[in-house]
Amino acid sequence: MLVFTKKHAKIQQEMEKFAREEVAPFVEKMEEGVFPRPLIEKMSKQGFMGIPFNKRYGGLGLDFISYILAIHEISKKSAALGVILSVHTSVCTNPILTFGTEKQRERYGKRLASGDILGAFALTETGAGSDAGSLKTKAEKDGDVYILNGAKQFITNGGEADIYLVFARTNKGITAFIVDKETAGLKVGKDEKKMGLHGSRTTSLYFENMKVHKDNRLGDEGEGFKIAMSNLNIGRIGIAAQALGIAEASLEEALLFMKRGKKSLLPLANMATRIEGAKLLTYQAAFLKQKRKPCRKEASMAKLFAARTAVYVTSGVLDCLAEYRGLPNHHAERFFRDAKVCEIYEGTSEIQKIVISRSL
Ligand code: CAA
Repeated sequence: MLVFTKKHAKIQQEMEKFAREEVAPFVEKMEEGVFPRPLIEKMSKQGFMGIPFNKRYGGLGLDFISYILAIHEISKKSAALGVILSVHTSVCTNPILTFGTEKQRERYGKRLASGDILGAFALTETGAGSDAGSLKTKAEKDGDVYILNGAKQFITNGGEADIYLVFARTNKGITAFIVDKETAGLKVGKDEKKMGLHGSRTTSLYFENMKVHKDNRLGDEGEGFKIAMSNLNIGRIGIAAQALGIAEASLEEALLFMKRGKKSLLPLANMATRIEGAKLLTYQAAFLKQKRKPCRKEASMAKLFAARTAVYVTSGVLDCLAEYRGLPNHHAERFFRDAKVCEIYEGTSEIQKIVISRSL
């Protein structure tokens, strides 16, 4: 069993309480497609939209493991809210606070970390999903501005976010830009109808001669790919925690019904074992990140294994609970629908294998 510090146990209890009292009652609405804005507002008030960031920049000032515990606990009740939080924190706020100028940190980072505004990460394009380096969105310099043309696909928090971290190609290579939702030339596509994560938004983005001031360039020209990749390492630990939350909640659901029905729990043994393995990998990666040690390989291993575990467990639990189908408060089929995408976004399982094999 993992042993957390007292501080970690405290945040875990706090997040479990928040998830049980606030998130769980909102799940049905999210399943109908309602974006959990009221939950995000409550989370902002409690500092949960900026858990691992310095208080000076609007964060809660806790460590990375505390943040991972939060995603883990929230995802037990709602994986949709888990991914909203993960994308906002890991791949939008974090790069701005890490690579931004002091002005960018003050202007955007602080408001993101305090939860005043919501963030999104716009890397993926049609034909440039796994092969992110081949993206085609262009940014042409014209005096003090860059003019962006192109499109992005499958953007989590699309249409709901106030700030998009957009990756586009300049003369010197892939470059990151902080884009306000009000920027002229930015258009948001329709919300994708997804198999799972119904409370989250996934849209395309279109840029038509969208002007972005050079002050909103994050890092230097050509640094964008490295910014994206290094933040994806962090993001992948978050998705591993999300997958872990789904798997654990699914197992708990199975236990509840099977104990009540006096069934043999033998089919759950493998599931429980895999969950423990996923937990160790996830928190090991989180621990390395917290200690500022390299964690590229470990983040990919955690995501690969935890995502597979979520799919394995949620599918097995459906088999175990087949006879209980249709009972009220039966969440097993939602967990099953929510699990699959963990093997797809923030790098598919094949991508994680590439990252791991290159690190060997
Ligand atoms: N961490 C840090 N740096 C990394 C890195 C990582 N994980 N992966 C690559 N890099 C660096 C490399 O070290 C290399 O640097 P040098 O030039 O100094 O050597 C540079 O980036 C280029 O690396 P590669 O040659 O390995 O690049 P590649 O083009 O072969 O592609 C890839 C690497 C791993 C396949 C990469 O394209 C990738 O990760 N693809 C998946 C994209 C992805 O995860 N998208 C997620 C979208 S966001 C999302 O899903 C959010 C959501 O909705 C939930």
